[in-house]
Amino acid sequence: MKKKFVSMTMAVLMGLSLAACGSGDDKPATDNKDAAEENNAEESKTDEGGSEESKTDEGSSDEGASGDAANKDKPLVWFNRQPSNSSTGELDMAALSFNEDTYYVGFDANQGAELQGTMVKDYIEANIDTIDRNGDGVIGYVLAIGDIGHNDSIARTRGIRKALGTGVEKDGDINSDPVGTNTDGKQAAVQDGSIEVNGKKYVVRELASQEMKNSAGATWDAATAGNAIGTWSSSFGDEIDIIASNNDGMGMSMFNAWSKDNNVPTFGYDANSDAVAAIAEGYGGTISQHADVQAYLTLRVLRNALDGADIDTGIGTADDAGNTLSDDVYVYNADERSYYALNVAVTADNYQDFTDSTKIYEPVSKQLDESAHPSKKVWLNIYNASDNFLSSTYQPLLQNYDDILNLDVDYIGGDGQTESNITNRLGNPAQYDAFAINMVKTDNAASYTALLNQ
Ligand code: BGC
Repeated sequence: MKKKFVSMTMAVLMGLSLAACGSGDDKPATDNKDAAEENNAEESKTDEGGSEESKTDEGSSDEGASGDAANKDKPLVWFNRQPSNSSTGELDMAALSFNEDTYYVGFDANQGAELQGTMVKDYIEANIDTIDRNGDGVIGYVLAIGDIGHNDSIARTRGIRKALGTGVEKDGDINSDPVGTNTDGKQAAVQDGSIEVNGKKYVVRELASQEMKNSAGATWDAATAGNAIGTWSSSFGDEIDIIASNNDGMGMSMFNAWSKDNNVPTFGYDANSDAVAAIAEGYGGTISQHADVQAYLTLRVLRNALDGADIDTGIGTADDAGNTLSDDVYVYNADERSYYALNVAVTADNYQDFTDSTKIYEPVSKQLDESAHPSKKVWLNIYNASDNFLSSTYQPLLQNYDDILNLDVDYIGGDGQTESNITNRLGNPAQYDAFAINMVKTDNAASYTALLNQ
C-alpha cells in the first residue's frame, strides 16, 4: 500500500498527466501489466534511494541509468514505424541519424508486399474452378487498409493491386488511396485487372477498400474492419470472392465476422498465432515479417551500443555466446541506418512451422553472460497497446529477448491515437540507458528527440 502511494505521488511529481496514467492505460490487459511494471520500476528505485522524489524531479543523478551519458547521446532505436513523411514516404534522416547509436528496425516492406500479392494471385490461379462464387466472370475482392500514412500499409496495398492488375499509376508509383466502394468498377484510384487461367479470362475487381480507422483515430483497427465487412457483405456479399487485409488483426476480425462462415479466403499479414491457426479453418494465408528477428534486432542494436561493441556483433558476426543471423533473414541498409527483416509467406503448405509467433529465433537464443554484458535500463513503448501484432507477437518476443540480452526494459503501452499519451511517460529519460521508440505517427520523431535533447 505504502509503496503504491509513493509511486503514485512520484508520478504526479514527475508531471505525468492523468491522461497518460489513465484512459489509454487502463483498458487493455497488456497495458495494466505495463502500468504494473512501471510501478515496480518506480518502487525499486524508491526502495533504494532515500529522498527519491527530489532526485527524480531534478532529473539529475539516478540509479536507473548506469552511466552518466547525456540523454541525447544514448542509444536509440526506432522500430516498426520508420521515421518518415506520412504523405510522401520520404525518410526522416534527421531522426534516423539522431546520434551515432541511432537505428531503425523493421522489415522489408516491398519484398513482403510483393509476396502477399503473389500469394493471393497464386491462390486464385490454383482455385480457379471454385473461386468465382457467383459465376459472373468477375473475381471480386475487398481490401482492408491499415493506415494510409504508414509506409508498410501503403506498400501492402500496392502489392495487392500490382499482383492483381488493379493498380493505376500516380506520381510514378501505384496509387494506394482507398476507393470506398467500387462495385461498378468506375473508381479512378483503381482499374479492373484480368487474369487468364486455362485459356479462360476473368476480370479482377477491387469491390471496396477503406482505411480501418476508428472514430477516436486509432488506425489498423480490427473492430472497424469487422464492421466494414458487415456493411459490404450485406450489400454485395455474393460478389466478394477474396478478402485481402493489410494485417492479420483486421483480417481475423473479418474472417470471424463473415468470411469463415461464407468460405471466402482471407489473406492477412503478420503471421500472428491466431491467424496461422485459422489457416486450418480456411483463412487463406498470411506473411511472416520475421518478428522474431525484428524483436531481437530491436534490442540487439541497443545492447551493442551500450557495450561499445561493433554494431554487427550478434548480427552478421557471432557474439561471444554464439548468436548470429544469416543473411537470408535480414538486410542492413547503411544509408538508411535501417535493419530490415525479410518476409516469408505462410499458407496451407507450411503453416505448421509458424504456429507459435512468440517463439524466439533459435540462432539468436543464447544467453549473454552478465559479467561481460551487465544489466542496462531501457525505455520502450508500443504505440498502441491494443495493436494485435505488436501486443500478441512483437512484445512477447521482446520480453523473451530482454532476458537473453540482460536488458531491463520498461514497456509503455500507448493508446494508438495521441503521441503525448506516450511522450508524457518519457518524463525522466535520465533514468534510462537507452530508448526504443514506436511512434503513433511516422512524422512525429521530433516529439521524442526533443525530450532527449533537453
Ligand atoms: C503490422 C501491423 C501493425 C503495424 C503497427 C505493421 O508492421 O503489420 O499489424 O498494426 O505494424 O505499426
